[in-house]
Amino acid sequence: MSQRTLVLLKPDATRRGLIGEIISRIERKANWTVAAMELRTLDTATLEKHYGEHVGKPFYGPLMEFMASGPVVALIVEGESVIEGVRALAGKTDPLAAGPGTIRGDYATITRENLIHASDSEESAAREISIFFPGFSLV
Ligand code: TYD
Ligand code: MG
Repeated sequence: MSQRTLVLLKPDATRRGLIGEIISRIERKANWTVAAMELRTLDTATLEKHYGEHVGKPFYGPLMEFMASGPVVALIVEGESVIEGVRALAGKTDPLAAGPGTIRGDYATITRENLIHASDSEESAAREISIFFPGFSLV
């Protein structure tokens, strides 16, 4: 089933010069394409909407600070089973638990700086696409 998902390459990806590498891994999957892409530094209002589900958790404050610490690349990726697929390619939230061959498993070591966000369900994808690319999901 063709889907759309929202991907963020976090500030550590931009700082470390890994955005090309990560986009390559996504782009070379058959039947997936980049449908929208933008580099920008996120403001607090956008981050509060995006990470609203985590308000009150101990990692929320440091996560918000980290996510605003530099530019991120926001992408819409479109294609076959792309929501579950990009989550699998990203690997587990804790990079030390993420398998080899995954983006987090190969390049990250600490949970906060785990390089990539990807929507976790169709509902999240629709909500997150409307935050970062208003209008796009209405097609
Ligand atoms: P979460 O939605 O649980 O993970 P995922 O990005 O895999 O969907 O958490 C959002 C982000 O919050 C996660 O990518 C990194 C950060 N985080 C921490 O810093 N510490 C933690 O203990 C957890 C669970 C997440
Ligand atoms: Mg999540």
